[in-house]
Amino acid sequence: MRIAIIGGSGVYDPGILTNIHEEKIETPYGMVDIKVGTYEGEEIGFMPRHGEKHSLPPHKVNYRANIWALKKLKVERVLATAAVGSTNTDFQPGDFVIVNDFLDFTKNRTYTFFEGGQMGVVHTDFTEPYCPELRKVLVETAKKLGIKAHDGGVYACTEGPRFETPAEIRMISRLGGDLVGMTNVPEVVLAHELGLCYGLIAMVTNLGAGISENPLSHQEVLDIMDQNGKNLKNLIMESIPAIPLERNCSCNQSGGKIEV
Ligand code: HPA
Repeated sequence: MRIAIIGGSGVYDPGILTNIHEEKIETPYGMVDIKVGTYEGEEIGFMPRHGEKHSLPPHKVNYRANIWALKKLKVERVLATAAVGSTNTDFQPGDFVIVNDFLDFTKNRTYTFFEGGQMGVVHTDFTEPYCPELRKVLVETAKKLGIKAHDGGVYACTEGPRFETPAEIRMISRLGGDLVGMTNVPEVVLAHELGLCYGLIAMVTNLGAGISENPLSHQEVLDIMDQNGKNLKNLIMESIPAIPLERNCSCNQSGGKIEV
């Protein structure tokens, strides 16, 4: 399997796949359920990050098991989606952003495979956390489809599960964050450590606390996801066949050499 999709909030259903079956993958970090189906003659994996009924909060997602399972299935490319708030008014609710960098404000997560011992001590290069080749495909496909998608944006990851305070949103904005979400760290970190290409389609669902006039609610996030779900699905569907067969990026040299 070359490509897998990790679905964020609102994306619990691999609606684009046919002949779906479920596989259970054993990893050193626990068992992972993944749906495997076919799209355009190719086997594609689908994993809803929060579980099928949004039963896992961001700080409880078993990120290491998820990414390990994808590597074990020989996945090379991950297309992920995430709902985000905006700390930059250039990015409005309903917009997509093809993220190109991140800031990490998480506090209490297991965020590496390299813990010494057998795994070794490895300092992974993060000059390009998101695969440039996948980013290009996503940006060009969005343009072709007439979907508004910003080429680049900085994702600031907070610990959650609460939303941010207005002071936190101001801080993130001043430090260079454009978007705020609760899941991309450590997901992108772990993918990069295992040499997977990782591309993130962020969907802006709300303005950050204090920018927005109203208190934030999870329902607001889901409502925008719902309205924009069709565009998201189209963007994923049209992007998959445009991903080159061979990788022409350096993502697979980024981390250590781990045998899964
Ligand atoms: N903050 C953090 N995570 C989010 C937000 C937000 O405003 N909106 C959607 N996910």
